[in-house]
Amino acid sequence: MTDEPRTERAATRLGSNHPSIALEADFEGRLSAGTKETVFALRDLSVHYAEKPAVKHVTMDIRRNEITALIGPSGCGKSTLIRCLNRMNDLIPSARVEGELLYHGEDLYGPKVDPVQVRKLIGMVFQKPNPFPKSIYDNIAFGPRTLGMKGDMDEIVERALRSAALWDEVKDRLGDNAYGMSGGQQQRLCIARCIAVEPDVILMDEPCSALDPISTGKIEDLMMDLKEDYSIVIVTHNMQQAARVSDRTAFLIVELTADETNRWGEIVEYDDTEKIFTNPSDQRTEDYVTGKVG
Ligand SMILES: Nc1ncnc2c1ncn2[C@@H]1O[C@H](COP(=O)(O)OP(=O)(O)OP(=O)(O)O)[C@@H](O)[C@H]1O
Ligand SMILES: [Mg+2]
Repeated sequence: MTDEPRTERAATRLGSNHPSIALEADFEGRLSAGTKETVFALRDLSVHYAEKPAVKHVTMDIRRNEITALIGPSGCGKSTLIRCLNRMNDLIPSARVEGELLYHGEDLYGPKVDPVQVRKLIGMVFQKPNPFPKSIYDNIAFGPRTLGMKGDMDEIVERALRSAALWDEVKDRLGDNAYGMSGGQQQRLCIARCIAVEPDVILMDEPCSALDPISTGKIEDLMMDLKEDYSIVIVTHNMQQAARVSDRTAFLIVELTADETNRWGEIVEYDDTEKIFTNPSDQRTEDYVTGKVG
């Protein structure tokens, strides 16, 4: 897949008024200035659940064809933040998102944007593998069929399973129920299901926390392969994993009001992963990544 069709698809399928050609010109302009292309630009993004803040003042750019890791202690808002990126928080009635979130330069929360389209372009893999109670084949074919995607379904299924490094393990049992697969296989099936609808971005919220080290290694290898074609954002509590796979890492902490009635997450530091893990700018980051706190 070349860059241009994906850019165009992102612009047109979101329901944008912007002609995709203008977006491409803009990308070229920015690329020639020596910067990496930005997929998401978050500007002072905050999320509340009812009146309670969950994460505040997040400003960060997430780059294309990179793996961006979100790390930090439990409750600092990593899941809340990653769910903003494909409008999954829309499904939580009390959630309120403030600030700006641009996706390829367009307001992801703009009035013309269809959240259902957003979730097709920006797929998500969860902590617990969640295959449908259907055959392996139908798990993959479901999305493309629902979207009316053109092409030979057998080929679409094979391509997605190959991309998720699962084909060789399941090619002789495509009709079997997905529940009969191991946890690691189910998680790769969920990644294949995500890939089958040709997304632009893959979001992963602790995708390996229920997996053994061998399955975890397979998913990590897979992520490194997938970033050639996709942009990936991962939440992980595994410091080694963030250090191994990601290009950039954001570290969040929990802030508290003086009376401790409200708590919310904020970014302490966001930088190249190597810097975060070897020479962070903030003492709190160093303490966290070296395991002194958390
Ligand atoms: N659906 C929800 N309704 C109300 N409050 C929520 C909801 N989801 C999360 N919160 C609150 O938002 C804050 C951030 O939670 P979130 O799940 O984003 O943290 P996290 O960093 O992903 O934590 P963990 O590492 O434990 O998964 C917490 O105070 C949590 O209680
Ligand atoms: Mg979480």
